[in-house]
Amino acid sequence: MNILLTGGAGYIGSHTLIELDKAGHSVVVVDNFYNSQPEAIRRVEKIIGHGVTMIEADIRDREAMEKVFTEHKIDAVINFAGLKAVGESVSKPLTYYETNMNGVFVLLDVMRKHGCKNFIFSSSATVYGDPAIIPITEECPKGQCTNPYGWTKSMLEQVLTDVQKADPEWNVVLLRYFNPIGAHESGLIGENPNGIPNNLMPYITQTAIGIRKELGVFGNDYDTPDGTGVRDYIHVVDLARGHVSALRAIQENKGLAIYNLGTGHGYSVLDVVKAFEKANGLKVPYVIKPRRPGDIATCYCDPAKAKRELGWEAMFGIEEMCRDAWNFQKNNPNGYES
Ligand code: NAD
Ligand code: WQD
Repeated sequence: MNILLTGGAGYIGSHTLIELDKAGHSVVVVDNFYNSQPEAIRRVEKIIGHGVTMIEADIRDREAMEKVFTEHKIDAVINFAGLKAVGESVSKPLTYYETNMNGVFVLLDVMRKHGCKNFIFSSSATVYGDPAIIPITEECPKGQCTNPYGWTKSMLEQVLTDVQKADPEWNVVLLRYFNPIGAHESGLIGENPNGIPNNLMPYITQTAIGIRKELGVFGNDYDTPDGTGVRDYIHVVDLARGHVSALRAIQENKGLAIYNLGTGHGYSVLDVVKAFEKANGLKVPYVIKPRRPGDIATCYCDPAKAKRELGWEAMFGIEEMCRDAWNFQKNNPNGYES
């Protein structure tokens, strides 16, 4: 298929670009490099052995999107473009609502005009709020998000559901990612956060390499086996493969389909620290800190629906995730600048 990959220079997008290429799809990337660098695309080109069609544009720029659809035949859009920093979304709610919501509105409108009605959306486990059921199935009711970023995901899911209901020609796949970590096995691409990392794994790898003094573990008094937060970490390459499998739902004209993309295993913060130390033969100094506002105790999924309907399941375990995250960090101590 001919795929438009928005946000394709980002962390998940660059890995998905590789998997789409491997599966024989033809890909056009749109990215405004707000949170990524052209170097990521150059490295993907090195991995796949040929050039990538890359258009520098903002998905909110209607004229630019019109041009993309006029110049390229697009069968489906995979949308990664958007802002994702949870803390920043609390201090800049309007920026988050405007960018994430408007971006999808413009895309949907331009797609409709050009007769392309296949859309895969990057949603998040965050839409479950503090989940009512563990492990979380897709039937678990959505919950209260704790930040504007999460609400953009929850509200866009509703928008997309309504659009598909109003016009059943649309195929919409809502993919709810759990916690993507790790990197491509080459060590050429990976997660490259700006400034102090908010997420656990980049904080661990930056501590291991000496950029950060120690990891702060946010709370050890949760109702979990060791008191620290439990999450469903998924290797980013598995997540990327999940998008290739999701194209199956589009080819089968499923209408609206929702899938959890996770492994189904819950690991605590201290489990991850231990797995990282074991996989890489390193020590990660840590201190226990107070709970982080908005965090929940436990979040992991039941991934059976994706396996049943898409034939997809995660292949990599926590050791491989830790190994590959470290491989990227040690080969790129200063991210893509090195
Ligand atoms: P990322 O920031 O690395 O990638 C997003 C990409 O989109 C970046 O390259 C950025 O430059 C680009 N972009 C942002 N706004 C744009 C705009 N208006 N127009 C064009 N390009 C724009 O993030 P990621 O971790 O790869 O996440 C990809 C998507 O998956 C995001 O929508 C994110 O919300 C969602 N998601 C991520 C996680 C996670 O933990 N990483 C979990 C669940 C969902
Ligand atoms: C994981 C665990 C922390 C950092 C976030 C977003 C979510 C989704 C994925 C996009 C928690 C603990 C973390 C640190 C720590 N993103 N932790 N010290 O919060 O599950 O999910 O990213 O959709 O929306 O909220 O991921 O990696 O931040 O935290 O102890 O320095 O690690 O408390 O238990 P989270 P995370």
